[in-house]
Amino acid sequence: MRGPYGPRFIVPLGGLAGLAMRILGVETSCDETCAAVVEDGRRVLSNVVASQVDLHRKYGGVVPELASRAHLEALVPVVTEALEQAATAAADVDAVAVVHRPGLIGSLVLGLTAAKTLAWLHAKPLIGIDHVESHIYAACLERETLPFPCVALIVSGGHTSLYRCDGPRRRTLLGATTDDAAGEAFDKVASILGLPYPGGPSVDRAAEVGSPRAVHFSRPWLDREAFDFSFSGVKTAVLYHVRGKGTEAKHRPTRLSDQEVADVAASFQECVVDVLVGKTMRAADASGLDRVVVGGGVAANRRLRARLQEEATARGLDLVLPEMRFCTDNAAMVAGLAYHDLVAGRVDGLALEARA
Ligand code: KG4
Ligand code: ZN
Repeated sequence: MRGPYGPRFIVPLGGLAGLAMRILGVETSCDETCAAVVEDGRRVLSNVVASQVDLHRKYGGVVPELASRAHLEALVPVVTEALEQAATAAADVDAVAVVHRPGLIGSLVLGLTAAKTLAWLHAKPLIGIDHVESHIYAACLERETLPFPCVALIVSGGHTSLYRCDGPRRRTLLGATTDDAAGEAFDKVASILGLPYPGGPSVDRAAEVGSPRAVHFSRPWLDREAFDFSFSGVKTAVLYHVRGKGTEAKHRPTRLSDQEVADVAASFQECVVDVLVGKTMRAADASGLDRVVVGGGVAANRRLRARLQEEATARGLDLVLPEMRFCTDNAAMVAGLAYHDLVAGRVDGLALEARA
């Protein structure tokens, strides 16, 4: 069978579910080099992440070429560490899973090449994983039961989308951002406010001592029926509020007291959280589902987690949040998701391609 990313084979492995199958996962789609070993799709035996934050800090964002070089250096030690922590040899895993789309192409190719090499060397099945799908799956790790069907909100640096999910690999898009992703807006607002890189966690921390009612930013598209999002307007509203209006605003310095920075951070965060929570709850209503799953780096935001929990409790919804360590990019979610492909006999060939 030829899939869109190279040939995909159906191998009859059916009755193997529950046989303590170990999968090695590799994830290099952006700026973290990750490897993990997960047993039976849910038990995380190791989860190693080599962050490149220090490398990209002085540029205020991820530099793709530097990211690729750093993956090249980190891949072997990170994979070795993940196998060691799981007390497993590469020869003993049941499959190698790797994120092959979407992401920075140079970064994806490196992880994919490492995974292919291991799969070939040890004659293991190779399983290609979609990065966004793996973020949804993060909420399944270390849990007894799978949280499907559900509405899933995926909020990261590159994605803000709502899905209806009927299984680990069965999702229907309900809506997505038409411009900036929520994480991207957090990162840009942090930079406007002069908060340290990476921006999301800095805004989260600064907002702790700020007032969410200090500045009113209008809630983009909250009153629309559709489940689409738009965050570039609120980012510009923050810029104009802080540096004054006009095309020159970008070049003006930010002169705010620490308290003013905290207030703007809290007000911006509240605006984004209102929109994310409001649309997610409406999607749950519209689809008649009583379970909500959240994934992606912004799912680590403490205000978002608290507000989602409040709303879910008030509506009698089951809210499934990933552990903090599984919110941002990691390979446990990749190895976990791949288990469902392996037991269904869906594996890829060595011709698997990377897609930006
Ligand atoms: O999922 P992820 O690690 O990578 C992508 O797939 O993009 O998400 C990274 C994004 C960044 O934009 C980062 O600023 C944001 O998640 N983020 C946060 C927090 N922690 C990470 N945003 C808000 N609050 C946080 N605590
Ligand atoms: Zn991600």
